[in-house]
Amino acid sequence: MSDTANCREIQCEPYSDQQPGTAGLRKKVKVFRQPHYLESFLEAIFRTVKIAPGSALVVGGDGRYMNRESIPVIAGLAAAHGVGRIITGLDGRLSTPAASHLIRDRQAAGGLLLTASHNPGGPDGDFGLKFNTATGGQAPEATAEAIYAASQSITSYRLCDLPELPLSALGEHDLGDILLEVVDSAAGYAALMETLFDFDRMADWLRQGNEVAFDALHAVTGPYAREIFCRRLGAAETAVLNAEPLPDFGGFHPDPNPVDCAHLVELSRSPNSPALVAASDGDGDRNMILGPGMMVSPCDSIAVMLHHADKLPGYRDGVPGVARSMPTSRAVDMVAEALGIPCFETPTGWRFFCNLLEAGRIGLCGEESFGTGSSHTREKDGLWAVLFWMNLLAELRMGLDDVVRDHWRRYGRHYYQRQDFYIEDADRARALVEALRAGLPGLPGRQLDGTSITAADDFHYRDPVDGSESANQGIRVELADGGRIVYRLSGTGTTGATLRVYLEQYTPADGQLEQQVATALAPLASRAAELGQIEEFTGLKAPTASI
Ligand code: G1P
Ligand code: ZN
Repeated sequence: MSDTANCREIQCEPYSDQQPGTAGLRKKVKVFRQPHYLESFLEAIFRTVKIAPGSALVVGGDGRYMNRESIPVIAGLAAAHGVGRIITGLDGRLSTPAASHLIRDRQAAGGLLLTASHNPGGPDGDFGLKFNTATGGQAPEATAEAIYAASQSITSYRLCDLPELPLSALGEHDLGDILLEVVDSAAGYAALMETLFDFDRMADWLRQGNEVAFDALHAVTGPYAREIFCRRLGAAETAVLNAEPLPDFGGFHPDPNPVDCAHLVELSRSPNSPALVAASDGDGDRNMILGPGMMVSPCDSIAVMLHHADKLPGYRDGVPGVARSMPTSRAVDMVAEALGIPCFETPTGWRFFCNLLEAGRIGLCGEESFGTGSSHTREKDGLWAVLFWMNLLAELRMGLDDVVRDHWRRYGRHYYQRQDFYIEDADRARALVEALRAGLPGLPGRQLDGTSITAADDFHYRDPVDGSESANQGIRVELADGGRIVYRLSGTGTTGATLRVYLEQYTPADGQLEQQVATALAPLASRAAELGQIEEFTGLKAPTASI
C-alpha cells in the first residue's frame, strides 16, 4: 500500500449486488454511479487478487459512457494498492482483444477492462468492469466468486489523490504515486496482426478491385480498423463506417448480429455489395462476416476457418486442437474429426477457453454468439476474424459465398439459430429451467413430434487442464433426426432474464443445403417450445429476438 500524504482511507457501506456474470460485472450506468459503488468493487478486486507492489496494470475500455471518468478512480485506488504503472490507450480506450494482448506483451500483473460489450451505452445504458489476469484472460470463476465475496464486506477503501490524468497525450507521465503510460494500441495491435496474416496478399486483393466495408458502429474498433484497412492495407477511408468512437455509440446498439446490423445484411444483399462486409461490437471482440448474398453463421465461420487455417501464415503448421462453447453448433467438430485433432466442448463464456489456450491444447476457438479467436490473445477478437476471412478470400481467390457453399458440400450443413425470450420476471425463467432439469431423467426415449429424444442432460464441465468443475451450464437435448435443442439463461443481462434456446439441425452433404434457416428449423422450433413449455412459463408465444 502506498503511504504518501496523498493517500487516504474512505469509509463506505458494502453493496450486495456486485456478483460478476458471464463476462465481469455489468450494471446500468445509474447503478455504477451510486456513491462509492465503483470504488467498492475495485477495492474488492485489489484485496482479492493482491497485485505485487510496483507492477503494471493495463486499464482501458470500449469508450462508452463512464469509461474516461473511471480511469482516474482506478488509478487512484491502484496507486493506493501499490500498483506502479497504469498502461492505457489514447483517451483511455482499448479494445478487449488489444487489452488482452497488451497485458501479455507488457507482462502486466493483469488488466481492468471497462466495457459492457455489445450492451447499449450512454447515460441510460450499461457499464461494466472485468478483471483479466496476467495471462490476458478473464479471471476464472473462482476468482470472480472470491471478488464477489470480498465485496460484501467492504466498509472502506484506500485512494490516492492524483493530478489530472493526461489521457490524450501519448507517452509516460509521472503522477507522483503512480506512472501513467498512454500507448498507441492500434499500432501495437496492427503489428500483431501482421505476424498472423499476409498483408501483401490482402493489399493486392484490394488493389484488384475487391472491396471491404467494416462497420465500427461508433465503438472502439474505429481507430484500429483505420490503422489496418486504410493505412496498412491501402483501402479507401470510406471502407470503415462509423469510425469515430462515441460514448453513446451514436445511438447504435453495437452488437454485430443480423437484427442490430440489418443495414449490413441489406448492403450484402444489394447488387453492389462489397466482397467482404463486416462489423465488430462495442469492445471489439465480436465479429459479423458477410459477403454478396451471404451471411456466415458464426458456427460455420469457425468450421471454415479450421478447415483452411494452414493456408494462412500464422497457422501454417495447423492447430493442436479446437474448442467451441456447448451451445455452438457441431459444425467445427466434423472438421476437427477430419483433421484428427481434439475438439473441446466448454461452457458459455470465453474464460473457459483460456486454460486450453494457455496449455497449448487448442489454437482456434469460438462461440455461436459471434465470437471467434485464436491463441494470439486470450479474448475473442473481432478484427482478427475479419482479417482471417479477408486473407482467406485473397488466398483462395473465391467469393465468400462459394467458400461457405463448398464447405457445406464437403461436410453437410448445420442449420442454426438462437432464439431469445426476454422475461421481466426472472423467477419465471428460472422456473422453466428448473422444470426442464427436474424432468431430465424421463426424457431419453420420449417421442417429440415425429422424432425421439436420444439423450438429455444438464451440461457439466470438468476443465481438462486444472480439473475445476462447472455445473448446471445448460440443458442439452439431442434428437434422433440429428436435431439438438439447448436451453440456458443469459448471464450478461442487467435486468429481468433472457432465456436462450439454441436450435441446431444437421443436414448431410447430399441433403437440402439451400433452405432458408427459419424454414429448415421450423419443426425443431416448435419441438423446443413444446418441450420447454415456453408459453406456459413465460407467457410469450414467440421469441423476442431470433439471431
Ligand atoms: C453472451 C453470449 C456468450 C458470450 C458472452 C460475453 O453470454 O451468449 O457466448 O461469451 O455473452 O460476450 P450470455 O448472455 O448468454 O450469458
Ligand atoms: Zn464484446
